[in-house]
Amino acid sequence: MVQKVHLGVLISGGGTNLQAIIDAIEQKRLDATIRVVVSNRGDANGLVRAKNHGIPTEVVDHRKSPTREAFDQVLIDILNARQVELVILAGFMRLLSPLFVRAFPNRIMNIHPALLPAFPGLHVQRKTVEYGVRFSGCTVHLVNEECDQGPVIIQAVVPVFPDDTEKSLSARILNEEHRIYPRAIQLYGEGRLHVMGRKVVVDGMGKEEGQVLIWPPLKG
Ligand code: GAR
Repeated sequence: MVQKVHLGVLISGGGTNLQAIIDAIEQKRLDATIRVVVSNRGDANGLVRAKNHGIPTEVVDHRKSPTREAFDQVLIDILNARQVELVILAGFMRLLSPLFVRAFPNRIMNIHPALLPAFPGLHVQRKTVEYGVRFSGCTVHLVNEECDQGPVIIQAVVPVFPDDTEKSLSARILNEEHRIYPRAIQLYGEGRLHVMGRKVVVDGMGKEEGQVLIWPPLKG
């Protein structure tokens, strides 16, 4: 029998991805348990979401740590004390140091609101709209020591329309984030993710040759 994955979720804000993970667990689409939710901001709405579901929470204010490593060490201690196996970054807006990444090798996932490696960093949806690309989306990846450059696990693609704003595009992408993040975690829990250098090989992924998106369409 596959063991439930023990998750530690790091957040900084609204926590809608956290909510999607909680919902997936409650609906038995995801066989995991959230051991702790940690926020670097005391006013993060995600803390309320966690409490509503009886999940332990911790606030670690990054401004109170003298260095990035000192902050990260507090996080490491909390996660280890709760026996967290997989660390989930869900809208966690702090860069993690190599110290943190080495404490959980290939056991940290992040979700990013773009098709990496395009549009890494911050204010991603705004930059995407301004650039004028036809498609964007979201990426769940493993975290390595390079920001937004870890091996990709799963991506979802959405169209970008001429009248899109940062807000409308963010909402379209967020919908898909909520679908792919629980799935990525479930694949991890089932032992189906294998890191081979830069690539994550997913057991049973197969191929769909016909999966092509063209926008605007070739006809019409
Ligand atoms: C999400 O769009 C997530 O992809 C993004 O922050 C938002 C958090 O929303 N993360 C990053 O930009 C990480 N660099 P949420 O708090 O409602 O889950």
